[in-house]
Amino acid sequence: MVNPFAEGENRTLKPPATALVIFGASGDLTNRKLVPALVNLAQDEYLPPGFIVIGVARRSLTHDQFRESLWEGVKKFSRRTISREVWDRFAQSVFYQSLDAGREEDFVALRRLLEELGQQRGDHYNYLYYLATAPHFFGPISHNLRVAGLVAEPVGGIRATSLIVEKPFGHDQDSAAELNSLLRESFAEEQIYRIDHYLGKETVQNILVFRFANGIFEPLWNSRYIDHIEISVCEDIGVLNRAEYFDQNGITRDIVQNHVLQMLSLLCIEPPISLSDADSIRNEKVKVLRLIRRMTPDEVALNTVRAQYTRGFIQGTAVSGYLEESGVAHHSTTETFVALQFEVDNWRWAGVPIYVRVGKRLPKRITEISVFFKEAPLSLFKGRQIDELPQNVLTIQVQPTEGISLSVNSKPPGPRMRVRRVEMDFNYDHSFGVASPEAYERLLLDAMKGDATLFTRNDEIEEAWNLLAPLFEAWESDRAPQLYSYEAGSWGPAEAAALLRKRGHTWRRL
Ligand code: BG6
Repeated sequence: MVNPFAEGENRTLKPPATALVIFGASGDLTNRKLVPALVNLAQDEYLPPGFIVIGVARRSLTHDQFRESLWEGVKKFSRRTISREVWDRFAQSVFYQSLDAGREEDFVALRRLLEELGQQRGDHYNYLYYLATAPHFFGPISHNLRVAGLVAEPVGGIRATSLIVEKPFGHDQDSAAELNSLLRESFAEEQIYRIDHYLGKETVQNILVFRFANGIFEPLWNSRYIDHIEISVCEDIGVLNRAEYFDQNGITRDIVQNHVLQMLSLLCIEPPISLSDADSIRNEKVKVLRLIRRMTPDEVALNTVRAQYTRGFIQGTAVSGYLEESGVAHHSTTETFVALQFEVDNWRWAGVPIYVRVGKRLPKRITEISVFFKEAPLSLFKGRQIDELPQNVLTIQVQPTEGISLSVNSKPPGPRMRVRRVEMDFNYDHSFGVASPEAYERLLLDAMKGDATLFTRNDEIEEAWNLLAPLFEAWESDRAPQLYSYEAGSWGPAEAAALLRKRGHTWRRL
């Protein structure tokens, strides 16, 4: 099996000795994503020598009990089958510490454990703290880490301690700014790594390579040739065991504010000065976010459609409606689907609508970005029973299949002049012969190396909240536009289709 990171800088740049401390170690994320990602990195020999991970949570567990609970998760959620032998070797670097986020003395105990492990193993560790807890613990944890002397100053760019923060990063612009200043009391900006796991996905990273490593696309990448863009993030799952969190946030805060806007900005940025320093790309992304036109209350009514699923069927199985899910408020008006139209107000993009559709309980899980090019003139084909030439569409498939396809018009074989649409396909599995690593593998490795390129900077987060503020304001006002409903297992409310029809467009069939 070929290794996905086998070539290039990743092979040679192993991270320095790292102690990773995961706060929220008994949670879903640790079990499903973080530890399976770490053991996959271990299997591929990407972890630094002497690497250790300390799980931290309230309940009291022995190291062995913690290891056994993680093994269950690895068996269930690892992208590859991990042998017990590989697990046992990895598990020797796993430890557990019971801790109450509000108790300073627990942080002193954590410090003792870190120091003891460092001495036993003869390693001088960089400390990397992962906040996988509920957001209200972010402040107390970062504060108590500092009080316990567990935060070093970043010296001359060499990072001795850093902090990874999971989403949600705030609820709106003010709370994001507040959270940020709380974290900044203990950590410098360059020590803070805000996770958006979409940035770790191979296909999302490929947007940049695809745009800037090919001579043929960039000249066409503007309003002269591009008619419109569609970004769809569709999920068949409902709110699972996160109903309470979801009900307070809704799909726009959960997925548009971060994943969608990150993909959109990569798609629309100007060429960055360099790909090798974190800020060049992030500077360009923040410009795009700043340039997306803010909606007036009337425009919110015209350019957005939000809806909630009612009971229905997903692949033949009956599922409950949103309001029947346990943990959802009785008369909740939280949206589980949203369709939106954005526009980036600059020379490159003026006049190009960017449509976004995101929803839970849609017929299948699929994330796709489609760029629709303007039609070729029909003149040559007039009188040949051809009413219109289909648009060329470039589609970036983010998941579940990963690839890029371009639809072009071709002549089917036969004596008559006809035009038919065909697909030119690039598929990751076929072309590279390997399944892509999980996003968290790449992101954990980058954070250990101190590379922040694939993490979101604070100004991007605040700008994204600022852009969405008029939507929340209008939706929460007395004159809120209607909240529609759609049957679980459908592609959303009819009004979402009407949104595109206004400009003569239709959603792509997925
Ligand atoms: C998370 C959202 O950030 O992304 C979830 O909170 C969503 O609601 C998930 O299901 C989707 O991630 P992925 O990688 O499965 O597309």
